[in-house]
Amino acid sequence: SACRSYEFIEVSEPRPGVGLVKLNRPKALNALCSPLIDELNTALRAFQASPTVAAVVLTGSERAFAAGADIKEMAPLTFSEAYTKSFIESWSDLTTALKKPLIAAVAGHALGGGCELALMADILYCTANANFGQPEIKLGVIPGAGGTQRLTRAVGKARAMDLILTGRSFSGEDAERWGVAAKVFPDYEALLEGALSTAETIAGYSKVAVQAAKEAVNKSQDLALRDGVEYERRVFHSLFGTNDQKIGMKAFAEKKKPEWTHS
Ligand code: CAA
Repeated sequence: SACRSYEFIEVSEPRPGVGLVKLNRPKALNALCSPLIDELNTALRAFQASPTVAAVVLTGSERAFAAGADIKEMAPLTFSEAYTKSFIESWSDLTTALKKPLIAAVAGHALGGGCELALMADILYCTANANFGQPEIKLGVIPGAGGTQRLTRAVGKARAMDLILTGRSFSGEDAERWGVAAKVFPDYEALLEGALSTAETIAGYSKVAVQAAKEAVNKSQDLALRDGVEYERRVFHSLFGTNDQKIGMKAFAEKKKPEWTHS
């Protein structure tokens, strides 16, 4: 099952329809070593396959979401090893293997790869004092898991350049003000509750419509507006072929709660 035991993460289903992955490598502030990423990918694949889970929350601890890729693991890496093993490419499994919505609940440090991991989520919630940043420049490298691309799309070129070239951090409050985070919470407890509650709300809808909505919004990041709007319209049209469209609209007319068939 999705809830087998892991070394660097904890996996559970705390609410109906909701899967939770908690990064759990506290001594290294959840530094994202390769075995941790492998476990994360395994857990997300299991949630994708699970008939009970409809939305997933990814979190760390109060102190750290993740302090980045594991610097000690990376230090001896050569160009040819990084290149031939396509180092960090498997991190993107997060965005391709999981078709169900992923909410990142970020408290504490979300630096380097930790910030990039959070930016891969469909929805990002954080605490006001979360500490985001892309400090790779201080290590003689650059972000390698999408930071130069996703952060730039999220905050615009001016801010992204400023952050990535200086390596300075930004707070959870900044993240919310700049549109990186959808919501900001006063503390970790409220954050996790908010993320689980949103996941539960999403899990209450038609799985077909939810997957289509996620897919269509994500297309906006890759396509020109005209192509994106056309793509959306095609997906919208296709949903009239589902039972859940009939069920949802009939329930509205009858002032009843829809009983989704997820088909
Ligand atoms: N990799 C490996 N170990 C890490 C780590 C990382 N990214 N971040 C923290 N740790 C380890 C520390 O080495 C330390 O271990 P020891 O107790 O064995 O010394 C432990 O976690 C606790 O860390 P600190 O003592 O440093 O804790 P702090 O509270 O004083 O500082 C911090 C916290 C500011 C987050 C600091 O740990 C830090 O700057 N970490 C590195 C952040 C960073 O540069 N991240 C980017 C990595 S590069 C990257 O991610 C590439 C990419 O794009 C994918």
